[in-house]
Amino acid sequence: MYTDKKITIAIDGYSSCGKSTLAKALAKRLGYIFIDSGAMYRGVALYCMRHQLILDGIPLTDQIETALSKIKLSFIYNASTEKHDLYLNDENVEELIRMPDVASNVSPIATIKCVREKLVAEQQKMGEFGGIVMDGRDIGSVVFPNAELKLFVTASPEIRAERRLKELTQKGIPATFKDVLANLKERDLIDSTRIESPLIQTKDALFIDTSNLTPEGQLKLSLKFVNQVLENCKDKTNC
Ligand code: CDP
Repeated sequence: MYTDKKITIAIDGYSSCGKSTLAKALAKRLGYIFIDSGAMYRGVALYCMRHQLILDGIPLTDQIETALSKIKLSFIYNASTEKHDLYLNDENVEELIRMPDVASNVSPIATIKCVREKLVAEQQKMGEFGGIVMDGRDIGSVVFPNAELKLFVTASPEIRAERRLKELTQKGIPATFKDVLANLKERDLIDSTRIESPLIQTKDALFIDTSNLTPEGQLKLSLKFVNQVLENCKDKTNC
């Protein structure tokens, strides 16, 4: 049972664990905004790659900080895919940011403090009125620490690699299981050990292992959690 109350839903977890699929489906069902925060980090990585701001996999932090004011990111709805595409300085880069070369460069870029500060501020603005489902690595811990519902999602690395490989193959992007698995393990390590906003499961986040769940199964389970939150909200004036 849904009420008029529009809550904030934060979904965090490891690479390719089904977060975005879940976030998108939840947002559609609830009539909320869906934001894939990882797309924004990928957009910054693409800009840095194009402007030689990453050398041999190492980001040039000072130059990136200077360039940040020239990076404009926005999401625009694409009716044919029923998704919001990422635009980098008014260019649709939705396909480009999903390429393996961007996946290889994004996590080092996402360790940079000034990059995170810029994107977190933009994400918080997008969610200031609630009614949003955002997925990423630091959504429940940093972006929306007061989110009414926090989910922490994972699945085994092999299952995650299989899913990502399938996604890439369907898009016609060449990739191998070995490379995809290596990339996601590397990103998991960087994301969970970095100093700035590492990926953590906050105490108040509900844990979902999607290894044996279909997209419908993970949606059903999450809707149950949403309903519980909305039920609790009815009894509280501050919710
Ligand atoms: O789709 P996948 O789970 O593989 O990754 P993504 O959500 O597109 O995020 C790409 C990368 O951006 C992650 O591996 C993180 O390094 C970074 N990221 C982050 O640091 N904080 C977020 N809120 C979202 C993504």
